[in-house]
Amino acid sequence: MVDTSVALAGLRLDNPVIPASGTFGFGHEFAELYDLDVLGSISLKGTTREPRFGNPLPRIAECEGGLINSVGLQNPGVRAVIDEELPKLARVFHKPAIANISGFSVDEYAECAALLDARPEIGILEINVSCPNVHAGGMAFGTCPENAAAVARAVKAAAKKPVFIKLSPNVTDIAAIAAACVDAGADGISLINTLLGMRIDLKRRAPVIANRMGGFSGRAILPVALRMVWQVYEAVDVPIMGLGGVATAEDVIEMMLAGATAVQVGAENLVNPWACPEIIAALPRAMEQYGITRLEDIIGGAHHG
Ligand code: SIN
Repeated sequence: MVDTSVALAGLRLDNPVIPASGTFGFGHEFAELYDLDVLGSISLKGTTREPRFGNPLPRIAECEGGLINSVGLQNPGVRAVIDEELPKLARVFHKPAIANISGFSVDEYAECAALLDARPEIGILEINVSCPNVHAGGMAFGTCPENAAAVARAVKAAAKKPVFIKLSPNVTDIAAIAAACVDAGADGISLINTLLGMRIDLKRRAPVIANRMGGFSGRAILPVALRMVWQVYEAVDVPIMGLGGVATAEDVIEMMLAGATAVQVGAENLVNPWACPEIIAALPRAMEQYGITRLEDIIGGAHHG
């Protein structure tokens, strides 16, 4: 009998598998497909203070090994999330969820964090300083250690629950940015968000995506995500939620060996909406195959000295 549970910032998760923000709505939409309580947790759709319609269409470009999105943080705004989405989620998911927060100013991040921190449905705040699809805010905060730290500091001052900062891979030194966030009080780091990319439509001789560029995610980015989780694990002493290209139980194990305590599944939910329960069901067998009795024991297990 293997043990798939992990402790994440004071929460005990039955398993480390978490659908990633932006690929799973507000969770309740998936309840007609399967019992959501099999999941470790759920990272909810990115939320801003005001409702956002998002970017013009087309917003998606398919690629080999993944896709590019430029959704532009479409969401109903924090008040509607609290009044409408969280009560719907509470009816079908009975574990602490992860609120994913985006913003265009430090004050906006802090205000949304305070509001969501007060909700009993929420166990962790994940602060997205890495959206590549908006012209101000988003990734602008996450590509500079000082700006990322300023957001982390303000959110920590506004909230009591654990705060994870979600980082962008579109940087030269991800470890320095993670360390600045931890110095500012962050309780954990999520990484990676999407890689900035683009496709050109040959007939129109123009970018496929209306916003020209977008964030590339999917199976192809797993090696980049693993490299960055590895680097951040060596640089900081807080838990990491690893994501980027995860699609199988073996990928979850690989992420944890690189240093992740929990593992988010993103683009694969768009390919296969049952990806998360299938990965969770496959985990015990994969653990047995690699001689793992307690999953928690392998966190960072590929770092030898
Ligand atoms: C988006 O809404 O554009 C995607 C969110 C993100 O990549 O952070």
